[in-house]
Amino acid sequence: MMSHLIAPSILAADFANLQQDIEMINNSEADWFHIDVMDGVFVPNISFGVPVLKAIKRHAKKILDVHLMIVDPDRYIQDFKNAGADIYTVHYEACTHLHRTIQAIKEAGMQAGVSLNPHTPIAVLEDSIQDLDLVLIMSVNPGFGGQKFIENTYKKVIQLRDLIDKSGSKAVIEIDGGVNAENCPKLVTAGADVLVAGSFVFKSDNPMETIAKLKKG
Ligand code: DX5
Ligand code: ZN
Repeated sequence: MMSHLIAPSILAADFANLQQDIEMINNSEADWFHIDVMDGVFVPNISFGVPVLKAIKRHAKKILDVHLMIVDPDRYIQDFKNAGADIYTVHYEACTHLHRTIQAIKEAGMQAGVSLNPHTPIAVLEDSIQDLDLVLIMSVNPGFGGQKFIENTYKKVIQLRDLIDKSGSKAVIEIDGGVNAENCPKLVTAGADVLVAGSFVFKSDNPMETIAKLKKG
């Protein structure tokens, strides 16, 4: 079993000094860049899109993990691929034809991820799990950084780990929202592979040390 990965969320970075925060992540023990795209429709907030991802790609030396909190994510698969995305994660709740969407992501040459909102049960992935590279369990309601971690997440991680093991899927389990040094080791014990952390990293006095701490946890 691989050790867990840390994916700092750019949403909590200083947008006026993005390059500085990107270099910090490059030089840290972080594994991926987590990129939160919000459209103001699927979620109440607007963040950034393809032009900002292109700018990040010019400096980032690690995997670009793109989380699409948007309606109709099929429309932007090629644009994000061209901008440098490695992983393209769509929301289950935003996809009417999820199987088609997953195939289109893979055909574009990216890894395919599906994210579940806190109210969406793991069981909805029973017939997709074999096709997925990643499942992102939201541990807050998507739309904003800095929210409180929802405790029901542990149960969902255990259920998803069980589903993955039984199906023989190679999907990794990513957790997003309210991750900190206290819940990080518990999530890893429950079966999580990748932990996203925004505020906990960027609002700390020493983000690089905070990343190292989460990596150990
Ligand atoms: C929330 C985003 C998260 C967010 C996490 O909608 O998907 O990636 O940036 O931020 P924190 O770690 O502050 O909860
Ligand atoms: Zn996210």
